[in-house]
Parts: sequence; C-alpha cells; structure tokens
Amino acid sequence: MTMENSAVTIEENKETLGCPISEFVSGPKSGQAVETPFTQGDSVKAIEIAFPVEEISQLAERESYRKEIFRPIYHIHKWWANRLGSVFRGIVLGAVSRSNIDIWKEFYKKHDLQDVNVLDPFMGSGTTLGEAAKLGAKPVGCDINPISTFAVRQALTSVDLDDLERAFHKLEKEVKPEIQRYYTTLDRETNRPVPVLYYFWVKLVDTPSGETVPLFNSYIFSKNAYPKQKPSARIVCPSCWSVNTGRYDATSLKCHRCSHEFNPQDGPSNGQYVTDSLGNKFRIKELLPEDGRPLRHRLYAIMALNKGGEKVYLSPHAYDLDLVEEARQRLAEEDLPLPQMPVRPGHNTNQARGYNYLHWRDFFNSRQLLCLGLLLKKIQAIKSEVIRDQFLCLFSGTLEFNNLFCSFKGEGTGAVRHMFSHHILKPERTPLENSVWGTSKSSGTFASLFKSRLLKAKTYLQTPSEIYFPVDMFGNRETKSQYRVASGPVKLKITNSWEEFSHSPNRAMVLNGDSAELPIPDKSIDAVVTDPPYFDFVHYSELSDFFFAWLAPVLSNRYSFFGRASSYHKDEVQNKDPDQFATNLGRVFRECYRVLKDDGVLSFSFHHSRPEGWSAIYKALREARFSVMTSYPVHAEMKVASPKTNAKEPISLDMILVCKKQEQAVSSMSEDDMEKTLSRKIKQVENGGNQVSKSDQFNIRASLLLATASRLSLSGEGFEKLLDGEFIFR
Ligand SMILES: C[S@@+](CC[C@H](N)C(=O)[O-])C[C@H]1O[C@@H](n2cnc3c(N)ncnc32)[C@H](O)[C@@H]1O
Ligand SMILES: [Zn+2]
Repeated sequence: MTMENSAVTIEENKETLGCPISEFVSGPKSGQAVETPFTQGDSVKAIEIAFPVEEISQLAERESYRKEIFRPIYHIHKWWANRLGSVFRGIVLGAVSRSNIDIWKEFYKKHDLQDVNVLDPFMGSGTTLGEAAKLGAKPVGCDINPISTFAVRQALTSVDLDDLERAFHKLEKEVKPEIQRYYTTLDRETNRPVPVLYYFWVKLVDTPSGETVPLFNSYIFSKNAYPKQKPSARIVCPSCWSVNTGRYDATSLKCHRCSHEFNPQDGPSNGQYVTDSLGNKFRIKELLPEDGRPLRHRLYAIMALNKGGEKVYLSPHAYDLDLVEEARQRLAEEDLPLPQMPVRPGHNTNQARGYNYLHWRDFFNSRQLLCLGLLLKKIQAIKSEVIRDQFLCLFSGTLEFNNLFCSFKGEGTGAVRHMFSHHILKPERTPLENSVWGTSKSSGTFASLFKSRLLKAKTYLQTPSEIYFPVDMFGNRETKSQYRVASGPVKLKITNSWEEFSHSPNRAMVLNGDSAELPIPDKSIDAVVTDPPYFDFVHYSELSDFFFAWLAPVLSNRYSFFGRASSYHKDEVQNKDPDQFATNLGRVFRECYRVLKDDGVLSFSFHHSRPEGWSAIYKALREARFSVMTSYPVHAEMKVASPKTNAKEPISLDMILVCKKQEQAVSSMSEDDMEKTLSRKIKQVENGGNQVSKSDQFNIRASLLLATASRLSLSGEGFEKLLDGEFIFR
C-alpha cells in the first residue's frame, strides 16, 4: 500500500470500480448466494484502505434511536455503553477482508467467513461477537464482569422457540396466579378484584417536631409526555391525599374531596431540602431514620385496569394496604432465593449508601421481594439448563424495572423509568412499583419482556436483519428505513475451551476473566474488534452488583465466575488517572498482540474530549507494539443515552481506529495530507446528516495525529507535543 492510496475514499473506490452508486446502496437481494470476500493472501485489509463512513453513519443514526428494536440480541439484559451493531458489522467485515474489497458493497450480502476468528477482549453486551457470528466468522469474547459473560452466553445461544414458549406457559400456569394476586385492587364499581399496573409511592421524613412530610417536589404526579396537546394531569391533595384531575400547568386547585386549595406545582421537597407545614427547612439527609434503615414510603395512588379494561387512577383503600401487609408477612415465612449481598462503597454506590441502602435487597419492597423470589424459585426448577439460563437472564433483566429506584415517566411514553436510565444510583423520592408479572397493558414486566426482549432476540438469531434505506428510481435514498435479512441463521454452541472451539464448527468462545491473560494460543486470531472502557466513565461492576446479588446465589454452582464475593475484579481496566489507565489498557492490548496473527488488524472505537484521553490511548498502543494506520469518524450512540450529554460541545462521533502490529505497518498517513483528510472526513460525516461539533473535530484531528505519531515512532510525550501544537483549529 502506498501513502496515496491510504487516503482513497469509498467514493473514489466506487468510481474506480465503475459501479453505479445505487448498486452499492441497495446491494443484492437478500438471500442471494454470494462469494465470500477472500480473506487471506493479502496482508493489507479493506479497513486500512477505506470505510463507508457516510453510509454506515446513516444506519448508525437510525439504529441509535431504537437499539433494542434493531439489534434485540444485545438487549435481553441491561449492559452499559453498548455499541451500534451496524458500525461493528462494517468494522468486522473490513478488518477481515482483503484490501480490494469494498466494505459497503459487501454489507448486505450473506457471508460465510468460516475459520475466521474474531476476538473482542472487552465484549460487554457482545456486539462484536454477534456481528462476527452473523458473518459466519467464529467469535471469541472475554469480559471481566460475570454479568456480561452470562448475558452474552444467553444472547448467542439459539434455542427452539417452542421450547421457550412451553417453559413460559408452564411458569405462567404455576406461578402467575400466585404473583398476580398481590397486584390487584377492588374495582370501585363492582367491588371485585381487577389488575393493578402501577403503585405510586412517596418517601416520608419525620421532622424533629414529629411532623411527617412526604418528599413530593410537586403534587402533580402524572402528566402526558406532550402536555400541550394533552394537558390533563393527576394531582395528589396534600391535605386528604386523594387523587385529583387538573391541568398540568395549573397553579391553583381545589380538592374535589376535601375542598383544600393549593398550588399543584408546589411540593415540600426541593433539592436536598424539605420544608414542613410551618415553613421550617431541613436537610433531608439529616432526617434519615436512626435505625439505619432507608426512609419509609407511603402508597398514595394506583393505576389499575377497571372492569372495562381501561386504565384508571385510584386512591388506595384498606384492601390495597392489607395486600402490602400480607406480602410482608408471607415474605418472612417463605424460604426464597433473595439477595444477601451488601452494597459496596464506591463512586456510584455512595449516594445510595448515604440514604441507608446498604444491602441490595433494600432496593425492593416486601411485595417485590416476595414476588420476584417466588418467580425465581420456579425458574430454578426448570429442568433444561439451556432454557433455565435464558429465563434467569430474562428475570435479571426484569429487575431493572421492578425496584424502588424506578419512577414514573408519565403518560404517552414507556411508563417506567428504569433504575439505570442514568449511570448513577440515585434514591427515588417517588418510586413507581411495577407489577412483576404484568398485565396486557404493562411494560417492563416479566411477561412483557418475555415477548419484547427474549422472543424477539431468539427470532433475530434465526433471521438476523440489517437496517436498510431503499433507493428511489433516481438513485436517491429514501428516508424511511426497512429491514433486510443479510445473514444466515446464527446457530452456535458456547464453549470456553479453545480445544473445542478450534476443532468444531459453529462454536463461540465466551470467556470470563482478565483479557490480559487469555487462554488462547499465539497468533490464532484474525482480527480484534473492540470498544475499550473509557477511563472511569462507567463503573461497570458497581452497577452490575445489583444483578449479581440475585444471580450469584442461584448460578455459582454452575459458573465459577459467580462464585466471587461481588462482580468486582481487581484487574478491571478502569481508572481516572491517565497513566494508570494507559498501563492497564496496554496490558490487554499487549495480549491482543500476542494472540493476533501477524497481518491481523486491531480495530476499536474511541472518543475523548481531552488530549490526555488520546495520549493514554497512544501510550497503551505503543506499549503493546501497535501502530495506528488510519481512523474514521462514525455516528455514535444517541447523545441523550450517555453521560457525555453534559459537555458544552457534545461528542456525537466515535472514532474507529485501525491498528496493525508495528512491524507490519508499512505505511501511514502523511502529515501534509492531514488538513485535507480532516476536512474530507468532516465532510463525509456531514453528508451522512450528522453535525460536527468542535469536540468532534478535535476527536477527528487527534485520531489522525495518532497515525502520524505512530508513523514517526514518537514517544508518548512526542505525541502529546504534536497534539498540543495542533490543538488550535484552523
Ligand atoms: C465499553 S464496554 C464494552 C461495551 C461493548 N462494546 C458493547 O457494545 O456492549 C467495556 C467492557 O470492558 C470490560 N473490562 C474492563 N476491564 C477488563 C479486563 N481487564 N478484561 C476484560 N474485560 C474488561 C468491562 O467489564 C466492560 O464490559
Ligand atoms: Zn383533599
């Protein structure tokens, strides 16, 4: 490869190949048998030459709105920071194909990349593994976190849909009635039990003078997501606690029951403070119970389905409070597999611990513990291990929507705001209690997630599809996307033995442990495609302990990685300090170097708004003897879905870095081409409909400078100087 052709764009490639654009965009009809891109005999890979930045950014943008719909396999269970499947399909394809293959031209074809081993040492929710499997390659993944390993095993295991449905119906018959009984209220007309969707709770504090104050920020507890169009709201009366109906923007209301007049926008709590009826202000933290327990709750409203099946808001009656008490008593008598684990002190957990959430079981009320425990016990009794694990994974996913850290999002949107909607653990002042099994109109329940997550994921494995934009007769891309089946069914058996993996077809190797020590022979991997942790942006194991606390007791006899005290591991790559982070990441990259074939590519996504982020990456790569060959900007996950939202200049692009072993890095970008390349890459992204912020420009420039620094064999400090000098945009 020469310096010139390293800068060839996909557009130029298309021209060279003389192929009309529309053919690239539409690809062949799905299912059409095609030749596999020849993967061997060329030490330069397609991704070193070009990447369809524009086209893949468009797919990524669409995918980022509803990741769980477009790629359900990575969403049976919660994972943090999962990447976009469309992007990783492109990367895997480009990283294993020889240099004259056009990635976009191959994108919608069915491939059978037999005997191509693709490794992800930071597998997370398994995006690389799934995309590699869909291309017929052999996926190898490792994560240090037990929840990741367990969830990826379940995601990639294909199971018979009938077996799954049968097991679900058996659970439905055996445990649903018992659980559902606790989620009923009396229909106010007929006095007969009807199903409850949600219970609305509020935390209470007792002031030194003995007054009990509810922590409402506002007495409006339910309004529509589009209140201007649907202004009706539900408002709780501060005097008699009855549920009123009024406008979302009302500033005065007379209670229909007790005639008390109040401003619905008000509420006793504000920020860290609460004000009593006499106007005295207290710090909420100072009013925590002395017995070391979390604040207690009061039930103030219910959403139920009335006899006609309509959603209605009700004020609780004695029947509802009796049910709570009944559940509490039964919980004390039952022997159920409940979490016993304490909440470890940590960056994410200290806030919850500060409010006396010291054990993971404190995150649930008695009814939730009872019903989740009854369900888990029945799942444990499923005979087939394969099916049982699928349901354990689903069960664990359900926990996210069934605990006291959930809240109500409002009408006209998915009702339950789950506990990990932010990457923090913040005690909720007005928790929403969802129904564990659920009704036909629920979301985030065991039954609804069985359909929307588990069945969809298993169906996707049988007919994996891609997002696809049809092209009109003039060659213009239509705005509405469609699905296109572009991969054969994924039928894998999971193993953790290299022996079995390398000698049998249709195997995926899914490991748990530190990826700096992989049980894989030297030079056995064709491409490493990954997404490393970014400093300490997400404290994975602190958050995943929430699931680990439930799963470990029921799975430790089968999976040794559930035998640990928590999901924490001392070798997690997770550090605020740039040098420490670079050293830890470098250890894993060095192991990647060992297992990678000499002509193999290491490709990963990264973004960072500050120079030290990029210099840490440079140091880690250099330490591991990798050179950066080139980089591409692509659309990143939706801004709202990540902590980077707060930045003044938001990052909406990920950089895809393409690296080779140093001795294989025969060429790289020339410095003179830097400016040209930078503006061309920005243009490509903008053509794909993305805006390029200052931070994005910095990312593009920093990633290009990585290639320059690699080529000049600069030291870590040398790279920092280069980056400093180039920091001002021209
Ligand atoms: C950014 S996430 C990967 C997300 C993934 N790309 C996805 O789409 O879900 C990084 C992962 O690295 C894992 N990790 C951190 N240190 C590790 C180590 N030493 N070995 C293996 N995995 C590690 C974390 O547990 C986390 O799941
Ligand atoms: Zn009232």
